[in-house]
Amino acid sequence: MISTRCRLSLYPWKRHHLLRHSQQKCLHTSLRLEHKYFVTTPIFYVNAAPHLGHLYTAVLADALTRWQRLVGNETLFSTGTDEHGLKVQQAASKNKVEPLEYCNQVSALFKRLFENANIGYDDYIRTTEPRHKESVQWFWERLDDAGCIYKDRYEGWYCVTDECYLSEDEVTDSTDGEGNKIKVSVESGNPVTWMTEDNYKFRLSQFTDRLSAWLDSGVIHPSKFEAMVRRWVEDLPELSVSRPSDRLPWGIPVPGDPSQTIYVWLDALVNYLTVAGFPGKITNWPPDCQIIGKDILRFHAVYWPAFLMAAGMDPPKRLLVHSHWMVDGFKMSKSRRNVVDPVKQMSTLSADGLRYFLMKEGVPHSDGNYSDAKAVECVNSDLVNTLGNLLSRCTSAAINPRQVFTEPSSRSLVQDLSRDEQAAFSQLNDLPDIVAEHYENVSIYKSLDAIMRQLNSANALMQHHQPWQLAKSNSASSRQHLDTVVHVAMETLRRCGILLQPVTPGVSDKLLSRLGISPDSRRLVNAKSAWPCESDLGPTTSVLLKRIDRQR
Ligand code: ME8
Ligand code: MG
Repeated sequence: MISTRCRLSLYPWKRHHLLRHSQQKCLHTSLRLEHKYFVTTPIFYVNAAPHLGHLYTAVLADALTRWQRLVGNETLFSTGTDEHGLKVQQAASKNKVEPLEYCNQVSALFKRLFENANIGYDDYIRTTEPRHKESVQWFWERLDDAGCIYKDRYEGWYCVTDECYLSEDEVTDSTDGEGNKIKVSVESGNPVTWMTEDNYKFRLSQFTDRLSAWLDSGVIHPSKFEAMVRRWVEDLPELSVSRPSDRLPWGIPVPGDPSQTIYVWLDALVNYLTVAGFPGKITNWPPDCQIIGKDILRFHAVYWPAFLMAAGMDPPKRLLVHSHWMVDGFKMSKSRRNVVDPVKQMSTLSADGLRYFLMKEGVPHSDGNYSDAKAVECVNSDLVNTLGNLLSRCTSAAINPRQVFTEPSSRSLVQDLSRDEQAAFSQLNDLPDIVAEHYENVSIYKSLDAIMRQLNSANALMQHHQPWQLAKSNSASSRQHLDTVVHVAMETLRRCGILLQPVTPGVSDKLLSRLGISPDSRRLVNAKSAWPCESDLGPTTSVLLKRIDRQR
């Protein structure tokens, strides 16, 4: 490895490293202020239209990013499409379109899906963009300058579907659809081919110790995925990082050697640097949270940090790995053609309904089965009944003729509510911290459970006190009692609505607007403090979310 010291003046990112140290002493430098919480999704291959698995990753990333905004942090959230490589080249030729035209079409499908699903990304990167080509070639030169790249001959297996090189013990015998004997990848089950060619290799094996030290810092979440990474790291082969251009024209040429094309995974991983602004001005390195499916763990937990270390840069602070959505026991995937169409699901469930179901049912540590019936049931029960009915009840003209967010009387809170009801209402004060802890552990489903429990107790309280009966009486005590019951419902809705924003931004906006809560009062701090006084409701609207008909 070359000395990094003498090169400091040449590379702005090295200067940034020094600045990072001085920032630790002085947190108020302007650079510090520029730091945004940086979240990434993988960039998706454009070999076929997006499916539910891709949307799941994007929703998870979006919810975590929106949580950071709720807390008050500025964010940088990137997603996009991976457009080079043999797999995309083959898909384009199968569809009889030029590769770039094909990429334009499919990338637009991902972008439209994400926009319709309310994915609030800050940057949508495509690897065919000029800014990315510049970044990849620049990064290759850093690896080369560091002495980590050399020319060699590769002889072995390659899996086009996974775009990866495999050793002899990573492949096994199988048969194709017509009964012919073939070799497949043990991990993914996808077919592999034998290859003999000259290419450039990266000295991966040098990084065992540094990768182990990085793993020691607990970057992999959930930790169950760490053991597998440690096994890979203990026995690292050198890694081919280019392919002959005559076999793979669709990609970025190796700087100074156009007879070779840069390996699509090296190209793709650099997207995270491109969105951070490399090789220009740097304000956001390393990423705070990189979200991936477990299928691409090796690329992100071994190759990626090793490339960064070779280039003298920090690896990501956290890798969040999630499991897979399955269909009949198989991973939902484009190659297997067993995909659930997210566009169709959104047309039934609505964008927020689908987002809610994905976040409630999908857990990072184990695979889940997607079921239409379960999704409809979940959205109807939680969003339509529990949330929607509570809102329509406490804002109805019959119960709330003055159309206000009522103020409770402290006497009525004690006199009219049972001890259990008082206790349940005061739990609302702890809810923001409980939800925050679940977000920190990426157990979003637990935060949704806690929110639903709180809403359910407000619904039970309404049921018990029958405010529609109280509204019929003119006595002062009934009026106080009614104001208190309506207040409990509204205050529960207000705080839960704020806390639901990362998962159901559209529904939350409608709910909070109806309650008359202005956009600048919808942060986490606002969920932590009690609503101070009586205030006017916002304009009446249609129901929060229509009941979903199973037949549709
Ligand atoms: O691997 N369940 O792209 P890709 C849950 N271009 N998530 C799923 C899923 C499923 N059944 N199927 C896919 C690539 N995903 C590369 C990435 S990054 C530098 C390059 C999600 O189109 C999940 O996030 O095959 C998975 O890791 C990703 O889509 C793979 O998408
Ligand atoms: Mg894939």
